[in-house]
Amino acid sequence: MFVLKVWLLFLFTCTQQSSAQKMRSFRMSVINDRQFQCSNTTCVPFLNVTSLKTRDCQWKCLSEIQCEAITFQASNANCQLFSNISNQLNNMLMNFNTVTMIVIDGARIPSVPKFRTQITYPMNNNAAYVLVQDVNYDNKLDILTASESVSRVSIRYNQGNGTYGPLLNITVSSKQYMLVLEDLNNDNISDIIVTNNGVATIGILYGKGNGTFNSEITLAAGASPIALAVADINDDHKPDILYTNWNRNAIIVYINKGNATFSPDLNFTTDVNVYAMQVIDINNDAKLDIICVSEQSNSVSIFFGRGNGTFLSRLIYSVGNGPHSFAIGDINGDSNLDIVVANSGTNTTSILMNGGDGSFLTQTTYTVGTAPLSVQICDVNDDKHPDIIVANKGSNGISILLNKDDGTFFSQITYTAGAAPSSIAVTDVNYDNKSDIIVGNSNSNNFGIFFHI
Ligand SMILES: *[C@@H]1O[C@H](CO)[C@@H](O)[C@H](O)[C@H]1NC(C)=O
Ligand SMILES: *[C@@H]1O[C@H](CO)[C@@H](O)[C@H](O)[C@H]1NC(C)=O
Ligand SMILES: *[C@@H]1O[C@H](CO)[C@@H](O)[C@H](O)[C@H]1NC(C)=O
Ligand SMILES: *[C@@H]1O[C@H](CO)[C@@H](O)[C@H](O)[C@H]1NC(C)=O
Ligand SMILES: *[C@@H]1O[C@H](CO)[C@@H](O)[C@H](O)[C@H]1NC(C)=O
Ligand SMILES: *[C@@H]1O[C@H](CO)[C@@H](O)[C@H](O)[C@H]1NC(C)=O
Ligand SMILES: *[C@@H]1O[C@H](CO)[C@@H](O)[C@H](O)[C@H]1NC(C)=O
Ligand SMILES: *[C@@H]1O[C@H](CO)[C@@H](O)[C@H](O)[C@H]1NC(C)=O
Ligand SMILES: *[C@@H]1O[C@H](CO)[C@@H](O)[C@H](O)[C@H]1NC(C)=O
Ligand SMILES: *[C@@H]1O[C@H](CO)[C@@H](O)[C@H](O)[C@H]1NC(C)=O
Ligand SMILES: *[C@@H]1O[C@H](CO)[C@@H](O)[C@H](O)[C@H]1NC(C)=O
Ligand SMILES: *[C@@H]1O[C@H](CO)[C@@H](O)[C@H](O)[C@H]1NC(C)=O
Repeated sequence: MFVLKVWLLFLFTCTQQSSAQKMRSFRMSVINDRQFQCSNTTCVPFLNVTSLKTRDCQWKCLSEIQCEAITFQASNANCQLFSNISNQLNNMLMNFNTVTMIVIDGARIPSVPKFRTQITYPMNNNAAYVLVQDVNYDNKLDILTASESVSRVSIRYNQGNGTYGPLLNITVSSKQYMLVLEDLNNDNISDIIVTNNGVATIGILYGKGNGTFNSEITLAAGASPIALAVADINDDHKPDILYTNWNRNAIIVYINKGNATFSPDLNFTTDVNVYAMQVIDINNDAKLDIICVSEQSNSVSIFFGRGNGTFLSRLIYSVGNGPHSFAIGDINGDSNLDIVVANSGTNTTSILMNGGDGSFLTQTTYTVGTAPLSVQICDVNDDKHPDIIVANKGSNGISILLNKDDGTFFSQITYTAGAAPSSIAVTDVNYDNKSDIIVGNSNSNNFGIFFHI
């Protein structure tokens, strides 16, 4: 630090107009005749570009959100961009006609969110699916996980400050794929609904109201049920159960008859391998629609609802390979809901922008980590523009794509998670008004929390 202060000659401010209203800017400290002494892989530029002027090198740093410093050598027009410079700061080499500039902490707009390294809590084996919701109505967000290998759902209750109490095991019929928490029987108490992937049933555990649950009852569900959604699709004020099977090209609906009975009813033809489905009003006509992704046919399907339990015929949009999950939110600020998909086979996310007239534009894609399985939309740097957060199962990490302010995104910033992070949630679990990130680390048998600093 002392050395840096001596070298701090003057501050440089850089701004760039990226749209009519919003600015991008940062301030840098300037250190003449020095470069980072980079002798190993933790200390190499993440990008090398040719720049004729210092200014061009700075522009490049401004457009790469993870850029924390640059070294510019005018003699060979070599502009090097560095991220995570914590290793390099006290390790600089004399080099005349080279300038190193460091982005001053907290002086970049939009800002880069900072998270603590993850804190983990053991759950049942292969806690692949994570749900963050207030289970016991104490206004604190609890964490539930579904297990891909054992017949137990896990719950830990939030103690109010983002620390979690003891592990509670809840027995179900088999390994699960997914779970939902919803009041099915209108007693104002949350119930647990799971796809029992190993035994072809839907499990229902009615809540007792004090954070414990009655033993499971089941509904027949065909081989290998996976995706699950609970929503009132026929507008009778009773939530219905929708599910898919791994190798069947349909969404199956159990209509809630109101006295804890369900009857199989509508089925919607779609593609096979639907691992994710949501029921939401996506075209803003006050009627619920059904949206799902098929990992096999690389598509998003949309069924617009008529509001009486019937739906228009399916619309299909292409995305990347192996779409495994998706999130819905207005990412470009036009008040229309857009779709962001995690493409597990292409290491990308696809954005389908809502055209506002019931159609979606052709996908735009962004690179994330390896085998992204789960995606959420949330403003994590508090600039009022929603960002994209992804769990990368294959690279044991999470990616954040920060919104440039117009629904286009900077390249990813990555953080290390546990083994095989398969599911992600973004919300404030310690009540400091900053969004934290929660991941289900399947192969570590735990969930991790990244607290927002
Ligand atoms: C940039 O150049 C350095 C050597 O000057 C090299 O070690 C590094 O891998 C390069 N980075 C990229 C992303 O090509
Ligand atoms: C920065 O690098 C250090 C040392 O390699 C590492 O411990 C730390 O996790 C990295 N930080 C981020 C945000 O990647
Ligand atoms: C890599 O270099 C940095 C800075 O020169 C140093 O702090 C770090 O310990 C080195 N890491 C390894 C693994 O040699
Ligand atoms: C919950 O189940 C796991 C095994 O899946 C076991 O290790 C743990 O001891 C159980 N915990 C409680 C509180 O029953
Ligand atoms: C959080 O709350 C629990 C229960 O009230 C308490 O035992 C624990 O020490 C608290 N932890 C922190 C970090 O405040
Ligand atoms: C559930 O809550 C609603 C609204 O607070 C109330 O009107 C209703 O009577 C409650 N039902 C039961 C079974 O407690
Ligand atoms: C929860 O409520 C049920 C039924 O009201 C009761 O049998 C059980 O002991 C309660 N459990 C706890 C932990 O309070
Ligand atoms: C549930 O309600 C349906 C229709 O109202 C009725 O036919 C059925 O017998 C009821 N079942 C039970 C278990 O009360
Ligand atoms: C929908 O599929 C379920 C499960 O296979 C079946 O029981 C039901 O008869 C089907 N319903 C219709 C209307 O095809
Ligand atoms: C549902 O609504 C549509 C359009 O309003 C209507 O054409 C159709 O007959 C209705 N179907 C049922 C079963 O009510
Ligand atoms: C995804 O990333 C992994 C690891 O880098 C790589 O092996 C694989 O080829 C990538 N897939 C595609 C389609 O680029
Ligand atoms: C969070 O925001 C709410 C509403 O703006 C405010 O009442 C509360 O004091 C804030 N809490 C903290 C920890 O800043």
